[in-house]
Amino acid sequence: MASQLVDRFGRHHTYLRISVTDRCNLRCLYCMPREHIIWKRREELLTFEEVERVATVAVRLGIRKIRLTGGEPFVRAGIESLILQLKKISGLETLAVTTNALLLKERLSAVRPFIDAFNISLDTFREDRFKELTGRDKLREVLDGIEAVLEAGYENLKINAVVMKGINDDELVDFARFTEKRPVTVRFIEFMPFAGNEWSNGKLVSMATMMEEIGKEYRLESISGEISPISRDFRLVRKSDGRPNRGKIGVIASMSAPFCESCSRLRLTAEGKIMPCLHSPLEFDLREVLRLGGTNDDIADIFFQALEAKPEEHPSADELMAQAGRGMIQIGG
Ligand code: GTP
Ligand code: 5AD
Ligand code: SF4
Repeated sequence: MASQLVDRFGRHHTYLRISVTDRCNLRCLYCMPREHIIWKRREELLTFEEVERVATVAVRLGIRKIRLTGGEPFVRAGIESLILQLKKISGLETLAVTTNALLLKERLSAVRPFIDAFNISLDTFREDRFKELTGRDKLREVLDGIEAVLEAGYENLKINAVVMKGINDDELVDFARFTEKRPVTVRFIEFMPFAGNEWSNGKLVSMATMMEEIGKEYRLESISGEISPISRDFRLVRKSDGRPNRGKIGVIASMSAPFCESCSRLRLTAEGKIMPCLHSPLEFDLREVLRLGGTNDDIADIFFQALEAKPEEHPSADELMAQAGRGMIQIGG
């Protein structure tokens, strides 16, 4: 069935990212604004029943993949029950989660049968640097979370590393080595500007620079299109002995090579706004519709309004810096 969620530019939308909380147990510099952050009160957040209802309507309209994001999804109490309910929606093909993995070791077994894929954020292998970047001394927990996912048999784990000049760009090859024996895809992400995240052009490491650095040790063989529509993916072959890595790498080049043309994503924020674009302040209130007794058609109508307004592409980095949008943590990536 084709998606009914088509925007003015003919893009079909099949992927809904649902943020379940604006809270997090880390304080990543590139994500969480240092000040002026006002946490949402519990009653402001959509209840699990409300999320489930929206998700059910969205799947009827053509959504095939849902990704839960945050903040950190596992800090929302009882998230396992939402996961179970979402997985039951008929027509949903993929249920995925993006997490910092801090709580995964304890929580994975409960959700293992319902989650099809995990993406885990990790930007450094160095303890001191991890603490500086995230504000917490928790690298061990993240690494344990990654191993737990691998031990649980996932072969599609992705590790997200946001690359920042002078901060962690000297670890690109370490991340590439991490894929030598593990069935993981490490995605190097160009640093993107969001409210309060101290982005500057000088901190941006472009895809070309990343590939050059990794190319010193590995031959990169393009496999684009196999892993994710937003990343350029590669198999790595070690130059010194011709050995192929078990895992892969990808680059998400939102800044130097945007992929807006093929965008298939919509977002639902934790407090019930539909956002048609990660980089646009446009948002459409679903919570009000839900709480005023709206019908499924009323819910669908908000999706259509968001699609009608969806911009063709995101503005330049300078314009993004000037716009007073949400912090990344209030969107969920
Ligand atoms: P897959 O579903 O596995 O393709 O994952 P994903 O890459 O969509 O999700 P993930 O949560 O792992 O996000 C990885 C990076 O991609 C983060 O930096 C996100 O902010 C970024 N990202 C996700 N969706 C979009 C988007 O629509 N536009 C842009 N520019 N970046 C995005
Ligand atoms: N630029 C790029 N990616 C970011 N993320 C968070 N903030 C930024 C940013 N400013 C990533 C996190 C997480 C995903 C949801 O978004 O690494 O993996
Ligand atoms: Fe938390 Fe993820 Fe944001 Fe880091 S990137 S502060 S782990 S939501």
